[in-house]
Amino acid sequence: MTSIAVCPGSFDPITYGHLDIITRGAKVFNEVYVVVLNNSSKNPLFSVDERIELIKKVTVDIPNVKVDTFQGLLVDYAKSVQANTILRGLRAVSDFEYEMQITSMNRVLDDDIETFFMMTNNQYSFLSSSIVKEVAKYNGNITELVPPEVEKALTSKFK
Ligand code: PNS
Repeated sequence: MTSIAVCPGSFDPITYGHLDIITRGAKVFNEVYVVVLNNSSKNPLFSVDERIELIKKVTVDIPNVKVDTFQGLLVDYAKSVQANTILRGLRAVSDFEYEMQITSMNRVLDDDIETFFMMTNNQYSFLSSSIVKEVAKYNGNITELVPPEVEKALTSKFK
């Protein structure tokens, strides 16, 4: 049986923390769909097209990763690509409540879809797109936090 996972998120923008989960997920699942979704509590800096473009650039060397977007519920997207797993990264205890809420909601919506968590590498346990944007905004060094393509995109956003 082909194992297909969906790795959802805002990815505004993708960081080395996301990339770590995607890379490791691609070793566990036959196919990983990285999907840019709308998080109604966030106000994105990058357009969906820009975010997709950046994800495509930094995952180009991972053959079983596909990049997509969807307007609607994550479980509906998962069904549309025959994925039975949602892949999420966990950084610290502080992520737990938020992730539990999303996971429980998705289970209510469709209990055939399982959520699979991977602990982020220790070196990225503090990392988030928001913190990267904050540092980039004030010209701080983000070289260790995001791939060069993303660093370039952030620099030009805040120029
Ligand atoms: O990277 P994020 O912002 O933590 O990702 C959250 C995301 C986009 C995965 C979540 O908001 C989501 O699944 N949005 C799509 C709408 C949906 O399915 N909502 C119900 C579950 S919360």
